[in-house]
Amino acid sequence: MNVTIHVADSSHLQHAQEICDLVFVSAQARGTGIAKRSIEYIEEKMRTSKSVIALDGDKLVGFSYIETWQHKKFVANSGLIVHPDYRGMGFAKKIKNRIFELSKTLYPNSKIFSITTGLAVMKMNTELGFKPVTFSELTDDKEFWKGCQGCRNFDILQRNDYKMCLCTGLLYDPKDKNSSQPVAKPFANKIVKPIVKGKRSRKSFRKKK
Ligand SMILES: CC(C)(COP(=O)(O)OP(=O)(O)OC[C@H]1O[C@@H](n2cnc3c(N)ncnc32)[C@H](O)[C@@H]1OP(=O)(O)O)[C@@H](O)C(=O)NCCC(=O)NCCS
Repeated sequence: MNVTIHVADSSHLQHAQEICDLVFVSAQARGTGIAKRSIEYIEEKMRTSKSVIALDGDKLVGFSYIETWQHKKFVANSGLIVHPDYRGMGFAKKIKNRIFELSKTLYPNSKIFSITTGLAVMKMNTELGFKPVTFSELTDDKEFWKGCQGCRNFDILQRNDYKMCLCTGLLYDPKDKNSSQPVAKPFANKIVKPIVKGKRSRKSFRKKK
């Protein structure tokens, strides 16, 4: 196995059909949707360098793409998919890291977001510095939310006036200093006290007595 991660381009167009098929099959298996996209849409993402592809030689391993909303105020990292034969080996994480870096390079001032019901994506995004938010903090572009039409929970989203659903919104705000500090994995669930310069700890006071 020799898996490599690339920013996709025209040389990868041959994989667009398989990507669409994979998304369709895995959405059926999960019972929730990843936004359904046409082959032409995926091809366009490849041609314009707005997607990341993982390949094992000629075999498709995984894919994800970038979308912009509200005049580039928001960037969505979407459609993350890994071929079932390659799951559980860390490839989603590699694709996610690469699409995140690509998003920050192309759109340094944009807020980056994902919506998901999946624990894997929640974990990966949290490590990258994303914060959970309500949908009110995400784009209000109707076109983005139309992408949820393929999800079997779409009626819940509609019933709630596009303000809440079963997905969690995850947001990376480049202006939020806390967001731009990725959570170091071993400390992800621990509270780390900040070290304040010049401030002595209780212990050191006690020692001085
Ligand atoms: C979700 C998906 C992309 C994960 O791909 P993967 O290559 O198996 O993921 P990785 O091996 O890189 O794992 C990344 C992290 O997610 C965790 N993870 C992976 N699959 C998981 C699952 N099914 N449930 C819970 N956690 C999971 C891993 O443990 C790892 O976390 P860690 O670093 O803390 O150990 C893949 O299962 C898939 O394509 N599913 C169908 C499409 C989908 O659900 N896409 C997401 C749409 S929002």
